[in-house]
Amino acid sequence: MWGDGRLCYGGDWNPEQWSPQVWREDVALMRQARVNLVSVGVFAWSRLEPAPGRYTFDWLDEVLDLLHDGGIRVALATPTASPPPWFSLAHPGALPVTADGVRLHHGSRDTYCAAAPAYRTAARRITEVLADRYATHPALAMWHVHNEYGTTCHCEHAATAFRSWLAQRHGDLDALNAAWVTSFWSQHYSDWAQISTPRATQYLANPGQLLDFRRFWSDTLLAAYVEQRDLLRAANPRVPVTTNYVLGGWVPVDHARWAREVDLVAIDHYPSAVDGGAEEQTALAADLARGWARHGAGDGTAPAWLLMESAPNHIYTPGRMHTKEPGRMARHSLSHIARGSRGAMFFQWRAPAGGAERFHSALVPHAGPDSRVFREAVRLGGILDRIAEVDPGVVEASVAIVWDAASGWALQHPGLPSASLDHHAEVSAAHRALWRAGYACDVVVPGDAVEAYRLLVLPALYLTCDATADWVRRHVRHGGHVLVTWLSGVADEHARVRLGGYPGALRDLLGLRVEEFHPLAEGEQVLLSRGGTGRVWSETVRPAGAETVTAYVGGVLDGLPAVTRHRYGAGTAWYVSTRPDDETYRRLMVEAARAAGVGPVCPAAPPGVEAVRRRAGEASWLFLVNHTDRPQRIPADGVDLLTDTPVDGEVVVPAGGAAVVREAPD
Ligand code: GAL
Repeated sequence: MWGDGRLCYGGDWNPEQWSPQVWREDVALMRQARVNLVSVGVFAWSRLEPAPGRYTFDWLDEVLDLLHDGGIRVALATPTASPPPWFSLAHPGALPVTADGVRLHHGSRDTYCAAAPAYRTAARRITEVLADRYATHPALAMWHVHNEYGTTCHCEHAATAFRSWLAQRHGDLDALNAAWVTSFWSQHYSDWAQISTPRATQYLANPGQLLDFRRFWSDTLLAAYVEQRDLLRAANPRVPVTTNYVLGGWVPVDHARWAREVDLVAIDHYPSAVDGGAEEQTALAADLARGWARHGAGDGTAPAWLLMESAPNHIYTPGRMHTKEPGRMARHSLSHIARGSRGAMFFQWRAPAGGAERFHSALVPHAGPDSRVFREAVRLGGILDRIAEVDPGVVEASVAIVWDAASGWALQHPGLPSASLDHHAEVSAAHRALWRAGYACDVVVPGDAVEAYRLLVLPALYLTCDATADWVRRHVRHGGHVLVTWLSGVADEHARVRLGGYPGALRDLLGLRVEEFHPLAEGEQVLLSRGGTGRVWSETVRPAGAETVTAYVGGVLDGLPAVTRHRYGAGTAWYVSTRPDDETYRRLMVEAARAAGVGPVCPAAPPGVEAVRRRAGEASWLFLVNHTDRPQRIPADGVDLLTDTPVDGEVVVPAGGAAVVREAPD
């Protein structure tokens, strides 16, 4: 809660875009909405340091004092995601270069190479100056380092840093040549100087090089974060430090690994689907964040994570901003908090009149406070205050999905058997199946402690090193259940295919051998013997101990297994060799979960009502978020914190609304 005993509520605020008169109006409106935390200064570098070494802090002094007087705490940002024009002019060599050698110019944000020494020096300097001035300011709740680390670069600084990183990772060139299989297409390296970043090339690039480039950037960006964090910590060790994670397949950040270096995991989440998809994406993002937070320090209670940014009234679909329907902002916020977020933060507080993001959504929209959005913001502030007691509650889940950043990166390589392979899409499909079946689930990464989970799901865990394969085997041998999908276990940690039949790392566990892939065309389906269809992928599965649960019907795979089950040690390993359609996947997940002895959170909740339970000692809270357009009656006992009314056997959750029931002890 970082300070005031309430859930965090607020968003990015950009006083540098407004007059002091608007600051005062904003603080009054924030108080009206019960906002208690704002991120300030995220892109304010050119206003803080208009010329090299010349600092203008008077406006920020006044803003922080105003906020403090208003009882609003601050996540103070280091502005390093947007170097000022003078920096780019003075250091053209620190501007980023794309894979095809184009040097980008100032004019947007993130125009730097994070491996360029001049950029790093300037970033450290502004951080130090800010730390010096504000580290003990009474309004300071946390430091918000940078914004959404994720940029890469192919300049000479990056290439030099990449080579040293590779030398560290592989030790010598023989190991690198073996890992990258450079015997293919005459790529053998005999000197480190021959290696560059994976720049645009004639035809397919080397998969090992592409994968290491992503890992390199994850580590390089992390080092850039850590050096700022250390300066901030040195100035005042009591103030937590974080950076807001951006999610997406393009992001070269291993979020779970980064979680060890932040005091709380902070994510920005912008769903892209309009229908139920937005709710499913929200649930997955929150479960991912909670999973990453397990790697962090936390505060001794629940894993610490915070929804740092979300859009108040828009869903950004490709090509169009969809206006959220009334109540949807609160439901999304509650879904995040049900899954452990320490609050709900937004991008942004007030919509700007100009600038590239002038139409991005805001709690105070262009229409001003006399608007539906602001009225909903005020209501949300009240809701968050009423449920503050849930904060120490730990989310209960007996199912976990395995997510792996590197598998995601490796499945973006060219030259794969299908262009539709996507680790995140497979994680989403598995998560969606569980969400629709009403199961709570955690997200873990390979190697995490998983004894507590009855069922572990491995969707397209393409890169499976020996240690990961042992980890899965151990879980099943000791009585755990595992559901493994196609593409898992196919390659090692360098993206080299394991030979002898797929999935090389997991054949014995699954009791089968996959002889051949049959990727499906877009829109193509295969029929399954127990009803339903498979999409995207199919394969020739030869059982070697596993029993067939579902077979393919028709086509070249007619009668061969599509889904199998194998007893292994004291547990069971399922294998799914195609992507079942959503309903078939949901039914399969229920079958596997039941076999593992796991049920849904609230068996009586109908489809579209999200149920999540958080527990702290004897206390428990049941979140019921009703995404349907009719009221829903759900069995429960206790007190609904949202209406402050007793719940005796049943709660009526309003259409498009929610209930948060402090449950009566059994
Ligand atoms: C985030 C970013 C914000 C703003 C927002 C717009 O990814 O951190 O600065 O650009 O998106 O939706």
